[in-house]
Amino acid sequence: MKSRRFIFPLIVLGFHCAGFGATLTGRVVDNSTPPNPVANASVSLKTNGSVTYTDALGQFSLLVSTTTSKTPRAEVSSTMQIVGANLRFSSALTEKVQIDQYDLSGQKLATLLNKPFSAGSHSIALPVLMNKNALPGLCILKIHKGSETLSTSIIKIDSHAIPASNDGLGYDANGPISLSKTTASADNLLVYRFQFTPLSQSVTIGTTQNLGDIVVTRTAAEAAIERKVDSIMALPAFTIAMKAGQMTMARKSQLTDAQYASLGVGSIFNGGSDLVDVPGDTPQEWATLLDRYQNSMLTSSTLKIPMIYGQDCVHGVGTIKGCTVFPHNIGLGCTHDTALISKIAQITANEAAACGIRLNFAPCVASVRNEKWGRAYEGFGETPEINSLMGAAYVRGLQNTGTYAVAASVKHFVGDGSTTDGINGAGGTTNISEATMRAIHLPQYAACAREGMYTVMPSYSSWTHNGTKWFQSLDSLTMTQMLKRDCGFDGFCVSDWDAIPQACVAGSSNYTNSCVAQSINAGMDMAMIVSAASVTQYISAIVSQAGSAIPLSRINDAVKRILRIKFRMNLFSTPLSNSTLRAQINSPQSQAIARQAVRESLVLLKNQNNALPLKTTDKVVVVGQWANDLGAQCGGWTIDWQGKTGNTTGIVGTTILKGLQDAGGSNVTYDQAGANLSGADKVVCVVGESPYAEGNGDNLNNLDLTNVNNAGSLITTCSNSGKPVIVILISGRPLIIDTELSKCAAFVAAWLPGGQGSGIADVLYGGTYNFTGTLTNTWPASYGQIPINTGTNYADEQHGSGGAPQFAFGFGLKY
Ligand code: BGC
Ligand code: BGC
Repeated sequence: MKSRRFIFPLIVLGFHCAGFGATLTGRVVDNSTPPNPVANASVSLKTNGSVTYTDALGQFSLLVSTTTSKTPRAEVSSTMQIVGANLRFSSALTEKVQIDQYDLSGQKLATLLNKPFSAGSHSIALPVLMNKNALPGLCILKIHKGSETLSTSIIKIDSHAIPASNDGLGYDANGPISLSKTTASADNLLVYRFQFTPLSQSVTIGTTQNLGDIVVTRTAAEAAIERKVDSIMALPAFTIAMKAGQMTMARKSQLTDAQYASLGVGSIFNGGSDLVDVPGDTPQEWATLLDRYQNSMLTSSTLKIPMIYGQDCVHGVGTIKGCTVFPHNIGLGCTHDTALISKIAQITANEAAACGIRLNFAPCVASVRNEKWGRAYEGFGETPEINSLMGAAYVRGLQNTGTYAVAASVKHFVGDGSTTDGINGAGGTTNISEATMRAIHLPQYAACAREGMYTVMPSYSSWTHNGTKWFQSLDSLTMTQMLKRDCGFDGFCVSDWDAIPQACVAGSSNYTNSCVAQSINAGMDMAMIVSAASVTQYISAIVSQAGSAIPLSRINDAVKRILRIKFRMNLFSTPLSNSTLRAQINSPQSQAIARQAVRESLVLLKNQNNALPLKTTDKVVVVGQWANDLGAQCGGWTIDWQGKTGNTTGIVGTTILKGLQDAGGSNVTYDQAGANLSGADKVVCVVGESPYAEGNGDNLNNLDLTNVNNAGSLITTCSNSGKPVIVILISGRPLIIDTELSKCAAFVAAWLPGGQGSGIADVLYGGTYNFTGTLTNTWPASYGQIPINTGTNYADEQHGSGGAPQFAFGFGLKY
């Protein structure tokens, strides 16, 4: 029995392994008559017991622990480690250290400790630390020094003891320790759900009991929004044609301003590379264009409902010149730093809103189960836990920026990371049972829904369940049941790029009546439409079938969802770009956060004979083209859809080489081909993949570093010099590196770090910074081993040829 399932009782409601203590059951409902169930609300006891979430019927079953044996385990440890019953960490200086506990979404629960520690190693008994505050499930512990986070650990506290041995999940399991909890006869039941007033109700803990209906009330702001939505829905001018317009996301520069306005489209968007009308690709140009669209909508359309502009700002506003470019998600996952992710999302939101973009097709929360997938770098890692943590933190940062909030589009729903052979797009099919789908791919959507995610993008791909292949854009089980009902999602689903017609006929952009009806009836609320002709087809398919093949109630539901989100994010009061925010694009503060993200995302895989850290007195020769290539270090979705190599693309930032030279001064020289390494004390060799996006990155041949852009021969050249070689790998995924590992003294996975290459030098030179990143993808030892993932107990999931991985999930060395 795997306790990892414990944190998602939404899925395994009533699945409690401990058997200690009593169970509280009940139903959370809203205050309407008759009451509606509130799904996906968190229910917990303030001091005694566990946390759970309500199911689609609002029901919950909460275990009240009496005295139990608890097992804190370090799932992912950085400089903090759990050893036996102790939390161990070291501090560099005598410093006041604060240890805080956060819940899975990154919300702070408590400060556990705040006192001075002398330099050196420390060990604190866990029972002392956690007695009062720990709830079963995952929580995050962070050590802070002033405003700086020194380290982050995810700790799992189980309500039952697990044997001290390795539990097969791929990370350290530490011996059971006893944390006793006092049984309280009175406690407070806490119910929390986004958009509702938090409720605290006193309960008496006795034996197992049913608390009946627990009524929660919408916040006043939410109730007011619903009234506004209803009043717009009631306008006679809000015809079916105008409603179909709201359900349309039309591509930029395909229609005239007057056409967008007369159709009353709900949204306009662009893909990864769409520079028509913005040839210079500057924030100002984008703002001018998007404001022009909006002003036309607000003056010439019948209903004057603002459109919401959508773009992929997947690692910052990467495709607009001059904006801050952060590491891609695979690197951010390795930081395990939810507070950092929220800050990154907030900067992204500000820079997007500065350009007039208010819908971000991000975050991708795919549990990436196959490194062959060209989008492996877009997910935070292979487990639902890491994607829940990071996804929820991202949504919170993006959407909670105040009046200029940016809507998240959490994607690609659902199971995009599990397609057979990692095939992207409409050709990809996921072949797993519903139980496995719910266990591996749904929890992150439940976690983001609890943060109030505004939109979700159903995947291009399909899922074969009950013997039938269902495209996600046509599947009511996933969109309506799993997402809207089970996760309680009340925002809107927006399709992927012409995904609706492609789901009906491969490669088609033909929005036929039956295809549009199937998709909308299955739960799609808005369609991302590429051409003007397709927009006309889609709208007429809705108008001609409204009240027949497409129920009016479904159309009204879709439109209400769209309007609700536009109100929630204040689009009606802040429809235009924000010039104050524009002046702050790429500020030193934003660059500092990007640089911090690079530092924390690095994973040290090998370090022999103290090859690292570098000393400023070391003569360092830097080798490899990727050391001096901003475009390569940023990867796909930067400037262009597929990314672009080179230093003249308009990305603002610092190369890895420049960072090393800033740190090591004249002792650092560059020899791209490694032609003369005789004067070197150490050689830093930077190699990696060329940028790619989506299916162009799918790789069905091999992922051997030896063959990637000549990396094998370059590393051999370096190694033949006899000097200690430090390899820095720039890649969107783990590659097969066994040959190269044997030829180097140190190896660093740097992922796709983005604009701030200097973050790499910060850690390589040690001193202030150590490595803290740990792997969130199991690192395969061979191509045949893929797919290989941690905690693989899903009999129906694909597995490669087996054997031990090169590096386990959670691996990461430090100095
Ligand atoms: C991708 C999405 C992206 C959209 C718009 C699609 O091809 O799958 O992730 O948001 O294009 O660029
Ligand atoms: C767009 C991408 C889109 C892709 C789909 C590209 O031209 O820029 O955003 O995902 O086409 O094929």
